Amino acid sequence: MNKATTQKNTYANITAIGGYVPKQRRTNKDLEKVTDTNDEWITKRTGIKERRILEKGLATSDMAVHAIENLLVNYNKKLTDIDAIIVATSTPDMPMPATANIICEKLGIDHVWGFDINAACSGFLYALDLGASLVESQRYKNVVVIGADKISAYVNIQDRSTNILFGDGAGAVWLEPSKETGVIDALMQSNGQGRAFLNIEAGGSLHPYSELEEDDDKKYIKQDGKVVFKQAIQSMSEACLDVLNRNQLTIEDVNWLVPHQANKRIIDAVGKQINIQEDKTLVNIANYGNTIAATIPLCIWENTSKIKKGDLVLLTAFGAGFSWGASLLRWSI
Ligand code: ACO
Repeated sequence: MNKATTQKNTYANITAIGGYVPKQRRTNKDLEKVTDTNDEWITKRTGIKERRILEKGLATSDMAVHAIENLLVNYNKKLTDIDAIIVATSTPDMPMPATANIICEKLGIDHVWGFDINAACSGFLYALDLGASLVESQRYKNVVVIGADKISAYVNIQDRSTNILFGDGAGAVWLEPSKETGVIDALMQSNGQGRAFLNIEAGGSLHPYSELEEDDDKKYIKQDGKVVFKQAIQSMSEACLDVLNRNQLTIEDVNWLVPHQANKRIIDAVGKQINIQEDKTLVNIANYGNTIAATIPLCIWENTSKIKKGDLVLLTAFGAGFSWGASLLRWSI
């Protein structure tokens, strides 16, 4: 369907944003002490200098709560106005209840529809599209969309193919209805063909923790970096061009590209493929690494001084599944 010809009565607008990263830093130098790696290699191959690590005893919900509190401090919003909370995460506090429920309890609100979705690194884009649809349906007015992950809980610190990449964090946006254009379109895709190349096998019903030996490495995140690398570039580039195309827009119309922050070389390659001017791509990977569902809201949050009201923003992500997509929106703050 050509979305550009579909007139919307109501648009979902992002009217507030917040973020949070834990204080504890894990630098490249720290990793040199535990595995056979070095700062120069990591910087050159990934663009990452350090990541943030959430302390033991705290969980994904704690970071999400901090992100919402940060949003409330900076924008004129009331917790009691929230109608729905959608949490994109692959690292919920526990299998049940949903992390959204735990967040509500910690915030002291008990009137919202809250639930989690898991689409790995594409989670925030999936949740944003879902949240925007709820607002456009006019059945929900104030929808909070969160991307939050404590992926450090699944990183084997001895595994240099993953320990260099991942860090913890959370970002949150507030969606509201408006007659002005906000979220324009989203093109989300997924398949199961990438399952073998990027996964955490244990902790679900197939390999429950109760059946694992202590040294079983199924409890850790594992990947074939090369396969993921190539597929990420191809899928994100295609999704960006497709979503622009079906809205009769070109790359010249885009003011900002906010790509999932997985590897600076992936970001650069996507930029080249879609032919976007280099200084239009927002990047903060050096400081946080890959925070899974949190990378995109965190990157926008850190760059709100650059993005002006009415700017056309293109978001794109790729992750486990494989799952991927691209979203288009007019910035509305
Ligand atoms: N430190 C030092 N040397 C290393 C390291 C390391 N951490 N890892 C590999 N090497 C060495 C290898 O042994 C190899 O040495 P050799 O040439 O002597 O054989 C050399 O460096 C190159 O290794 P490659 O595995 O080819 O390194 P590559 O350039 O593919 O980089 C990386 C690996 C960073 C994991 C990359 O493949 C990548 O980023 N892939 C994408 C993965 C990803 O982003 N996953 C996140 C989830 S999905 C998403 O968010 C998109």
